[in-house]
Amino acid sequence: MKTTTPGKALITGASSGIGAIYADRLARRGHDLILVARNEQRLSEVAQRIRETTGRNVSIVAADLGKHADLARVEAILRADKDIDTLVNNAGFGAVAPLLEADIERMEQMIGLNVTALTRLVYAAAPGFVERGRGNIINIASVVAISPELLNGVYGATKAYVLALSHSLQHELSGKGVRVQAVLPGATATEFWDIAGSAHENLPAEWVMRADDMVDAALVGFDQGEVVTIPPLQDGGEWTAYEAARQAMSGHLTLATPAARYLQPAGTRA
Ligand SMILES: NC(=O)c1ccc[n+]([C@@H]2O[C@H](COP(=O)([O-])OP(=O)(O)OC[C@H]3O[C@@H](n4cnc5c(N)ncnc54)[C@H](OP(=O)(O)O)[C@@H]3O)[C@@H](O)[C@H]2O)c1
Repeated sequence: MKTTTPGKALITGASSGIGAIYADRLARRGHDLILVARNEQRLSEVAQRIRETTGRNVSIVAADLGKHADLARVEAILRADKDIDTLVNNAGFGAVAPLLEADIERMEQMIGLNVTALTRLVYAAAPGFVERGRGNIINIASVVAISPELLNGVYGATKAYVLALSHSLQHELSGKGVRVQAVLPGATATEFWDIAGSAHENLPAEWVMRADDMVDAALVGFDQGEVVTIPPLQDGGEWTAYEAARQAMSGHLTLATPAARYLQPAGTRA
């Protein structure tokens, strides 16, 4: 018989911002926690606060997910600990610099964290979830996944990857007891913006959501069974139409014959 008791949730980037709020909310939902980030002091403070307010077990793992050895330690935990039923892939950073003004070394680090680490953690967690017929993968993407012109293009591309991977995971794993959700926040009031190069206070206040409002909305989307949740999008029908158009076009994307508009006019062929 399947148990419905929440298992442990492993949350990356839980030392601040969105990840720290997920930690609080998932603990309140009955999950014990494993919190991952680089800053051990801040992780300890988040963990202690949650233990005191919820009584849950909270452990911390200080790890730089941009470093292979540290990432491997977290992967090993996901493989070994069969009580983990939820992975929140949240650690990430962005940039506001236009493409050619951005430092390529920094862009590579961004791909390393936002794409490579997230992918390796999915690969570490998902087989166990499938084996146990139970698990949740929440991937924090961004609205720039579908609107890459808004911020640095490499950042948008990393988040488009997260969205595409989530669609594929949903396609392959939803029949095996695994829930997949991609969350696409808009501008959210966290340190993300300072790290990206411009404080969120520089944005119009009406664009910027509080981190706890964002996470609470994302969890409502999760409870409603959404695969993609965009908290700031007021008219959900816009996403439904966009996704329906994508799905409809998916049926027309491979054929032996080039489309008529690409056929060279008769008499001009080589
Ligand atoms: N804020 C926004 O407007 C916004 C919008 C859309 C999407 N997002 C996404 O939301 C996610 C969370 O960002 P946030 O807004 O909460 O920003 P944040 O407050 O800067 O949080 C980022 C978290 O990631 C951790 N982290 C950064 N580099 C790491 C590394 N190499 N290894 C391990 N952990 C690392 C940080 O902790 P340490 O420094 O302790 O390592 C921190 O806990 C990110 O994926 C971001 O792209 C944010």
